[in-house]
Amino acid sequence: MDMAVNTRNLALQHALVPVRQARPVALATGDGIGPEISEAVCRVLDAASATVRLVPVSIGEQSYRQGASSGIPDEAWQAIRSHRVLLKGPITTPQGGGYKSVNVTLRKALGLFANVRPCRAWHPWVQTRHPDMDVLIVRENEEDTYAGIEHRQTAEVTQCLKLISAPGSQRVIRYAFELARAQGRRRVHCFTKDNIMKLTDGLFHDSFDRIARDYPEIDAKHLIVDIGTALLADRPEQFDVIVCPNLYGDIISDLAAQISGSVGLGGSANIGDGFAMFEAVHGSAPDIAGMDVANPSGLLLAAVQMLHYLGDHASARRIHAAWRATLADGLHTADIFRPGHSQDLLGTRDFTTAIIERLQPAALAEIDDAGLAWADLPTDWPRSSPKPNKQLIGVDVFIDYDKFGRDPIRLGRRVEALTESSELSLTLITNRGVRVYPQGLPETRCTDHWRCRFRSIHDQPVAHRVIIDLLARFEADGLDVIKTENLYSFDGKPGFSQGQGE
Ligand code: NAI
Repeated sequence: MDMAVNTRNLALQHALVPVRQARPVALATGDGIGPEISEAVCRVLDAASATVRLVPVSIGEQSYRQGASSGIPDEAWQAIRSHRVLLKGPITTPQGGGYKSVNVTLRKALGLFANVRPCRAWHPWVQTRHPDMDVLIVRENEEDTYAGIEHRQTAEVTQCLKLISAPGSQRVIRYAFELARAQGRRRVHCFTKDNIMKLTDGLFHDSFDRIARDYPEIDAKHLIVDIGTALLADRPEQFDVIVCPNLYGDIISDLAAQISGSVGLGGSANIGDGFAMFEAVHGSAPDIAGMDVANPSGLLLAAVQMLHYLGDHASARRIHAAWRATLADGLHTADIFRPGHSQDLLGTRDFTTAIIERLQPAALAEIDDAGLAWADLPTDWPRSSPKPNKQLIGVDVFIDYDKFGRDPIRLGRRVEALTESSELSLTLITNRGVRVYPQGLPETRCTDHWRCRFRSIHDQPVAHRVIIDLLARFEADGLDVIKTENLYSFDGKPGFSQGQGE
């Protein structure tokens, strides 16, 4: 622990070394291995005379402990908002206790809609079974289950809301195509699970299909995320750019970084309108913190992405070339060290020194910018279609019910009786999405969480008071309503997934 604190101080000293005509960038050194790898990156940026001035901000574990439940104190917010670019070491998210992930908060609060993660093999220097892989993963960064809206609703059941918006999907998908074009990439895949999540993932897939038409030179393909991930793990060289919703992107980018050689090699950029944050793909690796064994390459490659973003291409190229030369000389950290293949096993500090020793004047640095060109999101694309005609045509009432052996038929009859002379009628009851009334199967195991679906006759629009009246009947009958979800149609099409047999 002491060691980590000392390293943090060292990193901050380096951060304060002024460099010429420098662009200020906020630096959060992070937790776990964060201070060590941040120190390494500061040393390299300093030695390369990169035109950035790193301004330390304190966020993460320490700030949580000092009472900022977001992990980001006000002074840090101010610095980040004023400098607009943040270089960030990995941050530990404490389990439980109401702590929100700093990483997720930063991405969402600053509108960093695209998380760009190049995952490339560095063959023959770093051993991998996939020498030709060079995949750019563009992950949607603000939505999906990462909205963090979760509830425990009954003794047995919890839920997490998955939110996917049309503008959110369109923005990141269009950005993925723009990046593909800027980097001369030929193929963009989209991964979703829209065979199951027809509305949420269906919206993402549909946006992908529409936007792909504006990029006829690029081969666009959709894969269901499970087979997509299997193929990525087996034959990553077949993929070029992959764009996907937040959770899938998080998972497949760790996978892709790992099979390229090590998760420690992955850098990543979080891009928004006027804000950007650069970080490693990996986490704070508490298991190796303070041991001088972490690979600083992920954060270093993120810093290289940052220099390109800021327009200091010369420093970016010098650093990248020196880093490649270090790998080529077989000087490897433990995660990529292979006896008989690597030359020397180096700790974080010595690996960093080796990179610095290999910094060449810009003119001599062999250029290898593949995957590092940035794109701007065009401003003139059609953001949304005309507002659809939205009508209220029913309601799903979720109840906590644990009586009479959880008999669905008994419950169904009781709930049906509540609709007498109402404009709504009960169409079905499901338990964890499976129909149990009417005509369920006796084998279905029921939890204490039930969804009762009511629809208006012939989908005629109903007033909200009809639903309020129905809820009052539930209460009068002693049934515990845990939530409701209104059922709307949009231009006559149901805006909700259909129940089985509906
Ligand atoms: P992790 O990525 O920190 O570690 C996974 C494994 O990879 C560990 O065995 C670790 O030693 C190894 N590893 C990671 N980075 C390495 C490097 N640079 N060099 C060598 N080996 C490396 O994932 P884990 O353990 O699940 O997460 C630890 C903490 O990090 C958690 O609190 C999590 O919330 C946080 N986290 C933060 C992220 C961020 O700041 N962007 C991203 C992912 C996780």
